[in-house]
Amino acid sequence: MPLEVVERAVARVDLDAVRRNCARLRSLVPAGGKLCAVVKADGYGHGALPCARAALRGGAEWLAVAAAGEAADLRAQGLEGRILVMGALTTEEIGVAVEARADVVAWSERFVAELEPFAASAVQPVGVHVKLDTGMGRLGTKDPSEARAVVDAVAQSERLELTGVLTHFATADERGDDHFPAQLAAFERFVADVKASHPGVIAHAANSAATLREPAAHFDMVRCGVAIYGLDPFGGDPADSQLEPALSLESYVAEVKRFEPGDSAGYGRRWRAERPTWVGVLPIGYGDGVRRALTNNAEVLVGGRRYPLVGTVSMDNVTIDLGPETDVRPRQPAVLIGRQGDETILCEEVAERLQTINYEVTCGLLPRVWRDHRGG
Ligand SMILES: Cc1ncc(COP(=O)(O)O)c(C=O)c1O
Repeated sequence: MPLEVVERAVARVDLDAVRRNCARLRSLVPAGGKLCAVVKADGYGHGALPCARAALRGGAEWLAVAAAGEAADLRAQGLEGRILVMGALTTEEIGVAVEARADVVAWSERFVAELEPFAASAVQPVGVHVKLDTGMGRLGTKDPSEARAVVDAVAQSERLELTGVLTHFATADERGDDHFPAQLAAFERFVADVKASHPGVIAHAANSAATLREPAAHFDMVRCGVAIYGLDPFGGDPADSQLEPALSLESYVAEVKRFEPGDSAGYGRRWRAERPTWVGVLPIGYGDGVRRALTNNAEVLVGGRRYPLVGTVSMDNVTIDLGPETDVRPRQPAVLIGRQGDETILCEEVAERLQTINYEVTCGLLPRVWRDHRGG
């Protein structure tokens, strides 16, 4: 059999899917509205730079990251275009963000005063987005009059540019809850107040879930993260929102061995064969981000069929039960997330088994997993 596998653990990322997902999200916002693609945390584990480029090709006009260093990395790798740093910034990080020609988020006059000297020596005015906390209970001021004072301070500054106002939803992924409409109404009031004197300001609030769920939340720009990677913000099937999963996680069958009843697989003997069977060994484990909580609690595709993951997930290996008769042979590719033949294991399925969200599954893929980017 030819050597079909070159990597022991690889995350294949289909950049055409990222581009198409962005085009789909962009098509949801009204003419003149913008898409900001969120590529923080290394593009939710998918690779920030290639995904950012694919997103821009798919119609995104802005990129967003959480940390100043992430903006600096993108610039260092040659990325142009508007970047928004959404997170809180230390004094040092303000310098990094300004140097990277990124926009920043402000919600206090103290921060605006701290920004001024950096902006004074910057090559261009520093774009500032003022954040109102309408109910996320995280960054931003809860007081609309304080946010308004920050807006005025930025607008009066010679070296700062009032670029946007924003908020962030806490429950956009929980359809039917009453907190989301309350946040939306509070932001609508703030936007109306600010636009009365600054009509050109970009108002933005919607994450992926809000973008898909509520056109009234689109304002002038939507900030989509998880959906650009083809992951479902509601934890269901991305196809329901016409999104294509971009990432698949693959390994291969390194060994196939015979197990007799009572033989055990892995640390702690947490699985024992109840009948004669064949066990496949895959060289991927929690050192790659395949979480140990998947012990006896996952399925893997080989030859287009699902096989149960049996025994303890170790740092570098997992084992699967191939059954009493098998035609699976060493060197066959194995898929832990993604499609093979007619079978698909969604990231959302893995997340449900782990009682977490798809975001955490892809962000949890570790550097030892080789990223293979295709298309774009
Ligand atoms: C402030 C902010 N906006 C937008 C997003 C994108 O959210 P999502 O990935 O759910 O689209 C995030 C991500 O957590 C965020 O923190």
